[in-house]
Amino acid sequence: MKILITGGAGFLGQRLARELLARGSLKDAQGAPQAITELVLLDVVRANDFGDSRVRTEVGDIAERSVLERVIDGNTAAIFHLAAVVSGQAEADFDLGMRINLDASRLLLDVCRQRGHRPRVVFTSSVAVYGGDLPEVVQNDTALNPQSSYGAQKAIAELLLNDYSRRGFVDGRVLRLPTISVRPGRPNAAASSFASGIIREPLNGEEAVCPVSGSTRLWLLSPRKAIECLIAGLELDAAALSNQRVLNLPGISVSVDGMVAALREVAGEEVAKRIVWQPDARVEKIVGSWPGRWDTSRAEQLGLRGEQSFADVIRGYIADEGIQIR
Ligand SMILES: NC(=O)c1ccc[n+]([C@@H]2O[C@H](COP(=O)([O-])OP(=O)(O)OC[C@H]3O[C@@H](n4cnc5c(N)ncnc54)[C@H](O)[C@@H]3O)[C@@H](O)[C@H]2O)c1
Repeated sequence: MKILITGGAGFLGQRLARELLARGSLKDAQGAPQAITELVLLDVVRANDFGDSRVRTEVGDIAERSVLERVIDGNTAAIFHLAAVVSGQAEADFDLGMRINLDASRLLLDVCRQRGHRPRVVFTSSVAVYGGDLPEVVQNDTALNPQSSYGAQKAIAELLLNDYSRRGFVDGRVLRLPTISVRPGRPNAAASSFASGIIREPLNGEEAVCPVSGSTRLWLLSPRKAIECLIAGLELDAAALSNQRVLNLPGISVSVDGMVAALREVAGEEVAKRIVWQPDARVEKIVGSWPGRWDTSRAEQLGLRGEQSFADVIRGYIADEGIQIR
């Protein structure tokens, strides 16, 4: 089976690639496991190929049709479309966000349509599609009312994926990811970057700035579970999805105070005291518009799973990254 990951050099793209290579196979549209013979990683920077002969790395701009035509052919059975510019960047640079998050998504679907073989496509959407006056618990079908350009771009791409699926051009699956935490490495331009920073930096012996109040509620999922959900989402039986292609992934609803309490529980008071509270109105406005609680029963009925507690997420991060608490 030939698989494409767009954004293959990114945080989730690299982890997904590593997991797919380790598994070695993926279920086809009929549910039968097929060996992964080729894994194409497209990104603007060269992805790590893990020294694996099944991996082909391609450097190119996903907003260019010729690049997509180079990486999608009639044998591309599965596409994980992850390439995007993150929320803070899409808000700062309107044209860039529209070009990569929206125009390139339509282009990708259109190249699939042109190829004519109806590949399965997983698209990673976000909590940012919701906003405004929200119910206490957001349902799968709560009206979309994004309060950022990133959220608007993701919402439009969701609709496109639904329609290209309805028309039989692709077999699409939209997975709305909670904020991923704990993300290793350095902070990024996402408005939610602090959701990892306030755990990662203190564990590493450094101070971390928290730009939102402790009562801010977040919807979180670990990288490990996110990758499991991406693969399970691709393998879902199309008949079970019917004409509703969008799933809110299971995550943990936790306040920032609750995250700090979990950090204290796992790593102790000295570590938790390294968080510095410095409200930032720009970040509070974006993150505060996102829902903190979702109804994820549909995804769960289909077998997708998240963690039970944020303390478990922190323990998983420490184990996966081999962190020595300082
Ligand atoms: N990490 C999260 O908390 C989170 C939450 C919700 C949704 N998502 C979505 O999941 C997906 C993956 O997120 P991530 O955390 O791995 O982000 P990331 O920024 O690490 O990865 C995105 C990748 O896309 C690539 N890219 C950007 N512009 C490109 C272009 N023009 N052509 C080709 N590649 C390009 C980047 O170089 C990067 O490697 C994104 O669609 C993101 O919107 C992530």
